[in-house]
Amino acid sequence: MAEMSHRFLRACRREPVDRVPVWLMRQAGRYQPSYRALRAQTSFLDLCRSPELVARATVAPIDEFGFDAAILFSDILIALPAMGLDLSFEGAKGRGDGGPRVSNPVRTRCDVDALRVPDPERDLSCVLAGVRAARQLLAHRVPLIGFAGGPFTVASYLVEGGGQGLSRLKAVLYADPASAHALFEKLTEAAIVQLEAQVAAGAQAVQIFESWLGELGRDDLEEYSFPYLARIAAALSRRGVPTIFFATGVSTHLERMGALGFDVVSVDWRIPLAEARERLSNSALQGNLDPDLLLAPRELLLARVGRALEAVGHQPGYIFNLGHGVKPETPPENVRALVEAVHAFRP
Ligand code: CP3
Repeated sequence: MAEMSHRFLRACRREPVDRVPVWLMRQAGRYQPSYRALRAQTSFLDLCRSPELVARATVAPIDEFGFDAAILFSDILIALPAMGLDLSFEGAKGRGDGGPRVSNPVRTRCDVDALRVPDPERDLSCVLAGVRAARQLLAHRVPLIGFAGGPFTVASYLVEGGGQGLSRLKAVLYADPASAHALFEKLTEAAIVQLEAQVAAGAQAVQIFESWLGELGRDDLEEYSFPYLARIAAALSRRGVPTIFFATGVSTHLERMGALGFDVVSVDWRIPLAEARERLSNSALQGNLDPDLLLAPRELLLARVGRALEAVGHQPGYIFNLGHGVKPETPPENVRALVEAVHAFRP
């Protein structure tokens, strides 16, 4: 199939498709025996910095499960060292839960001002070489998605120093709004330059991961998040690739999400898909299966997949995905059954 007309890119543009495209957030990861074998040889960060291993990890889910898009194997925190932060993943040698840690977190205005916006060609050349290597290994089978973290979600790791809670970041918002804006300003610029560089290296669509945005209420979203997200969407739409926005816990604000300027909005399972489809009149829709359903009895999983497809799969502009990432405990056979069920459906 010619690449421009691949069903994933067609669905992003809300064009008719032969089959509903399906890919899963975190489709490359610990639930795969092949990924665990790669990780037995090397730490997570070293894996992210080896173009050859990045290409293998990116393409393995396509070979193993037949997904309709590949997502670059990397992390939303990969640019932190180039910004001046000391990033590590606990249990990097296979122990612990693999959670991120920043040993010199951002706590003062001085810390914010000291952050450098990365120069991807210089600081992230391994990541860009990984994009090129992944494209080569994919050999035009399916499009490659690049990604970056949303400013609020990346800020949470910078300020908290790890993955626990958001209270320190919210304290900065409320006690020192000027510093919060200076921080989001830098993280917005960092996301834009990383995504632009990934597109220049060969990424054919881009997704923003704003996983923890649901922690903010409407006033704070309007003040601290939406203007920055709109700026990212505008910068990337000039590059001519589809843009996808993902967050969790924000269905209350769906119309606002749809107006940020992204081509595709990815929703979680807290909202019925048919309702999301109605409220997002000008965007393609991605989502929204609860990742825990991949751990449920097979019949229930397939019934829920069928219900999603019946709800929105007959209209153009739908991409099947989860509402958040695949969990490490997921049985690979269930992922295979899910992809088969989506591809068996006639849109
Ligand atoms: O989706 C993919 O398959 C592509 C690769 C990818 C990873 N992380 C690889 C990874 C992507 C798109 C991400 C995004 C990411 N990273 C997010 C947003 C999505 C989400 O899940 O909310 C966030 C919040 C992070 C930060 C991060 N990286 C955390 C909190 C953790 C530890 C907990 C966990 O979920 O594993 C990571 C580590 C990480 N990122 C792993 C992988 C495969 C596991 C590392 C290992 O092998 O030990």
